[in-house]
Amino acid sequence: MKKKILIFGGTGTLGSNFIINSQEKYNLVCNFHKTKIFFDKVKYIKILDKKFDLLKIENKIKSINPNIIINFAALTDIDYCEKYPTVSKNINLIIPKILSKICKKLKIKFIHTSTDQFYKIDKKFKNEKDKTSNLNIYAKHKLAAEKIILKNSKENVVIRTNFFGHSLYKNKSINKLIEKIKFREKLYLFDDYYFTPIYSFELVEIIKKIIEKKICGLFNVVGNDRISKYEFTKKIANLYNISNPNFEVSNLKEGKLFAKRNKDLSLSNEKIKKLLKIKIPSIDEQLKKFTEYDTYVKTKKLSQIPYGKHTINHQDINFVKKILKSKNLTQGDFIKETEIKIANYVGSKYAVAVSSATAGLHLSYMALGISERKRVVTSPITFLSTSNAALYCGSMPLFSDIEKENLNLSTEKLEDLIKKNKDISCITPVHFAGLSKNMREINYLKKKYKLKIVEDAAHALGAKYECGSMVGSCKYSDLCVFSFHPVKIIAGGEGGVITTNSDLLYKKLTSLRTHGVIQDSTKFKNKAIAFTNNQINNWYYEMNDLGYHYRQTDIHSALIYSQMNRINYFLNRRKKIADYYDDYFKNIKYLDLYQKGFREFSSNHLYIINMKFNRKLSRNYLMNELNKRNIFTQVHYIPLPLQWYYKKLGYKMKGLENSFEYYKNCLSLPIYTDLSINKQNYIIDCLEEIITN
Ligand SMILES: Cc1ncc(COP(=O)(O)O)c(C=O)c1O
Repeated sequence: MKKKILIFGGTGTLGSNFIINSQEKYNLVCNFHKTKIFFDKVKYIKILDKKFDLLKIENKIKSINPNIIINFAALTDIDYCEKYPTVSKNINLIIPKILSKICKKLKIKFIHTSTDQFYKIDKKFKNEKDKTSNLNIYAKHKLAAEKIILKNSKENVVIRTNFFGHSLYKNKSINKLIEKIKFREKLYLFDDYYFTPIYSFELVEIIKKIIEKKICGLFNVVGNDRISKYEFTKKIANLYNISNPNFEVSNLKEGKLFAKRNKDLSLSNEKIKKLLKIKIPSIDEQLKKFTEYDTYVKTKKLSQIPYGKHTINHQDINFVKKILKSKNLTQGDFIKETEIKIANYVGSKYAVAVSSATAGLHLSYMALGISERKRVVTSPITFLSTSNAALYCGSMPLFSDIEKENLNLSTEKLEDLIKKNKDISCITPVHFAGLSKNMREINYLKKKYKLKIVEDAAHALGAKYECGSMVGSCKYSDLCVFSFHPVKIIAGGEGGVITTNSDLLYKKLTSLRTHGVIQDSTKFKNKAIAFTNNQINNWYYEMNDLGYHYRQTDIHSALIYSQMNRINYFLNRRKKIADYYDDYFKNIKYLDLYQKGFREFSSNHLYIINMKFNRKLSRNYLMNELNKRNIFTQVHYIPLPLQWYYKKLGYKMKGLENSFEYYKNCLSLPIYTDLSINKQNYIIDCLEEIITN
């Protein structure tokens, strides 16, 4: 079984480098600390808070039950520690003290990283037995921590080191130094300040050996080469081929640093080398490795967590490859196959593949004859496409308010509006976030007022009406439009499909998506050039209407076909993720949920929380803080009448109070097939941490 290791300081250079090179080998849990760095395989749990409540920390550690705790956390800016001793004490002494005390009680091995800053003596390559002293505040706290840790258990390990490594932050440690050298920033470098640096990955390998060989005690784990800070920086400039760096040689005395320092920090690594029977590469070899690993490290960092994302597998790739190798990239056989697959899935007579849902909405309105005097009514809480498609037809869309809980059109308000506007000829309900509500009632209005219905089901492939029929079966509508944009339920790159049970609409749609060209030769009007001796001319095609080029390519279609094979899996995953959030959020006071009782009907395209934002906690602040932690949320949507273009057309939010209230408080959290439970816990933890602090 993998060893379980609990890490503190997992976001710093050494901690994150340890994670990068051991996340496969060990079962890693990391104390959650506000930061951007996050690894997919690590479980993040908030263990420490500002109060250092011993019992709470102990209970959390107990529940994690690690074999080993490693503390990489340290405040290493020596001058800062000198100026702010309390901060230094908390991080460099109190935290390791508490952790090692708990480790002692719970019989957990404790590994702690320390420093080379302890010496007054003028000796090169100091060993573990050489006399130490409290040269400065930093040294004082680190030394006190070492003593406690080593006293608490013979099993414990203290590692004195001085390392260089890749920081996952651009502006930290050596990354910052490299930037400065590259930009020829003036650097004052001491040629009388010596150390024995080790490359962090080398150090990580040694720590792993220390763990495997179960050794314990105090060790210097440093490089072989004693080198001045000036020489070291010069080597880095050479490695990156930076000519004429702006260096000025200086010395410690001239540096006038705030905290006292010993000129020679060099340590001897003989003890650890002998014990582990290892060789440590020279500084040049280590620096070479460092540059080689530069990109490798970046790829190991957490991928960002977007609010929505596609999932592609080998089958998808093979389907697309097949098309790429075939004779037709577009207008081949695949379109038909995908249309049949979708029609069968939703239970409609026809499906018409188009280049996007926006195109699908436009064609639907065209097929229904929407025009200046035939208006569409829809929800203001939707993407631009729903109403823009009406504008394309020269029709000014109308907006009707939503219901507070389920965020779909309110039928009462809809009927009021229909009564007042005799030119309404089409209702476009938006199955918002994947939920379709009130379709039976809307269908009742359709019949009562002799209207048409186009469902905007861009979010809702796989969703069900309340009666249990599939959205897309057109049980209550004339036409239904889905989107295959990558954040949607299935990804086609771009793409959309219109479903219908009407023969007439089907024919119109297939013609309109290809410039208004018709296929049926019995309908050709321009007989003079269509036929020769009653035979159709080979080259002939006829445009009967002004249509558009809204076809789907076979490449997109193949991807959609392949993704359709896994739609049930996608839907199950989304439902699980929504349920998990629901379960966690149900007892949280500061946060309300929408559409909560309807997850089983929904495709769960979006997961939206109601935050009741205010001045103290604004949406911008929350989104920014989440962004910093690599979590990307979104607002779905800005009500359409508030869009500048619509404002200019004279639209207002009057009568749309529920929509406005919703807009002020909503935030969409990440939800997509591959969102792991680890990431979901991380999102929840981050949200809680930001909101409660
Ligand atoms: C509600 C709604 N309708 C229509 C669309 C348009 O979809 P597409 O990008 O496929 O044109 C979207 C896209 O996000 C949408 O959210």
